[in-house]
Amino acid sequence: MSEGSNPEIDAKIISGLNSLLADAAVFRYKLQNYHWNVRGRQFFELHAQFEELYTAWTTHLDDIAERVRAKEAAPLPTLARCLEHTRIAEEEGTPDEKRMVENVVADLLSIHREVREVIEDAEDGGDRTTVNLLDDIGDEIEKKVWMLRAWHQGA
Ligand SMILES: [Fe+2]
Repeated sequence: MSEGSNPEIDAKIISGLNSLLADAAVFRYKLQNYHWNVRGRQFFELHAQFEELYTAWTTHLDDIAERVRAKEAAPLPTLARCLEHTRIAEEEGTPDEKRMVENVVADLLSIHREVREVIEDAEDGGDRTTVNLLDDIGDEIEKKVWMLRAWHQGA
């Protein structure tokens, strides 16, 4: 039930969705690690904020994977494969809370660039379902980047 009439464009969309899936998998774990390890006077605020973020990205991960399946393709099957495809850098150690927020904003902007690329392919392929899904994720990223930057200015 593939929507794209052009198999080449459809393959690009699927590949882009799988890259986003990989980003979501790595990013959500990174956020959870921040949630566990954040310290300092902002602990309660950021502990809750990182939980909100990794919960949202767990949902995005599932939605993106299911979109790949709906397009009759296979989502990346392992975390090892996700690590090969992601643009998100894993991180050892625990940065301070301001640096955590800076890293999250940078990762969100990196994912946002990829979201926009896949939206363009999906538009070319007439795949409105993927466009709608990624539009929503892109809007959410923009809002979150604004909020995290506003927090960072006052921190
Ligand atoms: Fe927790």
